[in-house]
Amino acid sequence: MLDELAAAYGTAFSLRIPRMPEPMVFFSDPAAIKEIWSSDPETLRAGEANIILRAALGPSSLLLLDGVEHLRERRLMLPPFHGDRMRAYGAAMRDATLREVGRWPIGRTLPVHASMQAITLDVIMRTIFGVGDDPELAPLRDALVRWTTLGTSRVGTALLLLTPPEYAQRVQALASRGVGRFLPWAPIVRAQRDADRLVRDIIAQRRRDGTAGRDDVLSMLLDARDEHGNAMTDDELRDEMLTLLLAGHETTATTLAWALHHLLASPAWLARVRAEVDEVVGVRGLVASEHLERLVLVDATIKETLRLTPIIPLVARRVARPTTIGGYALPANSIACASIYLVHHRADLWSEPRRFDPSRFVGKKPDPTHYFPFGGGTRRCLGMAFASYEMKVVLASLLAHVDLAPAPGARVRLVRRGITLAPSGGMPLIVTRRR
Ligand code: HEM
Repeated sequence: MLDELAAAYGTAFSLRIPRMPEPMVFFSDPAAIKEIWSSDPETLRAGEANIILRAALGPSSLLLLDGVEHLRERRLMLPPFHGDRMRAYGAAMRDATLREVGRWPIGRTLPVHASMQAITLDVIMRTIFGVGDDPELAPLRDALVRWTTLGTSRVGTALLLLTPPEYAQRVQALASRGVGRFLPWAPIVRAQRDADRLVRDIIAQRRRDGTAGRDDVLSMLLDARDEHGNAMTDDELRDEMLTLLLAGHETTATTLAWALHHLLASPAWLARVRAEVDEVVGVRGLVASEHLERLVLVDATIKETLRLTPIIPLVARRVARPTTIGGYALPANSIACASIYLVHHRADLWSEPRRFDPSRFVGKKPDPTHYFPFGGGTRRCLGMAFASYEMKVVLASLLAHVDLAPAPGARVRLVRRGITLAPSGGMPLIVTRRR
């Protein structure tokens, strides 16, 4: 639909959505994108535009905040996802991959998306709670997998996209009192309630045990104080923990599934990337942080995957007061959208835009108004560096240990999974040989 609208109306068009008083305005011109990234965050408000996530993540989620509150919280949450703190998780990322790959059957169709999710969930849990495959975390892991699986099904996606946010919260409140137990979305609400309770339990336990000597994200947020000396409340902590748990694993898992799809569909690229991994990492196949800079094609493969199949097709900002973008006057309450999908497919910016070609990113740094799978401006993805690092470690580790082939007869399509776009059928493939 976006392709058709762009062909008919060009680089700016509006969509009117039932029940929304003002239009969603899609922009795919780099100059307009630049204006969105550099706009005053009081005028273009991302938190208000992300309102459909409120019922799932809570009002104190970084994704839902705006203005000074957003800035304060973002400063607090950024450090663990950067630099040396982030690199310290490299070995855990690799080991989580090898554990999972060790369980893969040979010669049978394997829907690899769920496996990618198991790896990335393990990594993010370890990062934010300081422990990973700890048996005490198994119930939370189970609740999160149930929640994301059901929440991204057709019913879950409809609930997320079509239910007005106030109503979604009412459904939850009623369900928590046992009302509507037999309605189609009841299992989703139950999974969410379980995840919520288990995260609160972990927070309470950590408050009792203290944070001395711990450098995980939860301990850091428990110790944080604002300018008035106030600590974060349990509700605020819960919202941020769930935000990081959800935003921090579904996204990377789906991108990795797409990367495998593109590589399997382009055998020449698969062979080149594998040769690079073998040369840089060596016969033992143990990816370490010193290898990453030399894994140029692995890096380019992930970047090209996010160009061709960006898992989040747009980022949105609510217009708080009338403003102009790309020469168009936008009324208050309209939603300005930077269309990741459309910009990434512009033929004047990317030659043969539908072709998978990682060489576009070898030795080149893309312009942030031409390429922005992680959004932009002051709202750019908090986990961008972390996700990029993790995806490289996981992809290189698995290519070093198994040979893969497309599942016979499988035709992978793009399907909606909640707010993300994923490969269909759980991304089926076959492991042909352990190396
Ligand atoms: C391939 C992986 C990922 C993709 C494609 C992705 C994409 C995005 C996008 C498009 C946004 C919205 C940006 C905007 O509005 O301009 C975002 C925000 C965010 N992401 Fe990610 N993300 C990924 C991984 C992660 C990871 C691993 C984490 C956590 C460790 C994370 C945490 C967040 C948070 C907390 C925000 C809100 C930032 C804010 O509003 O200030 N993401 N992400």
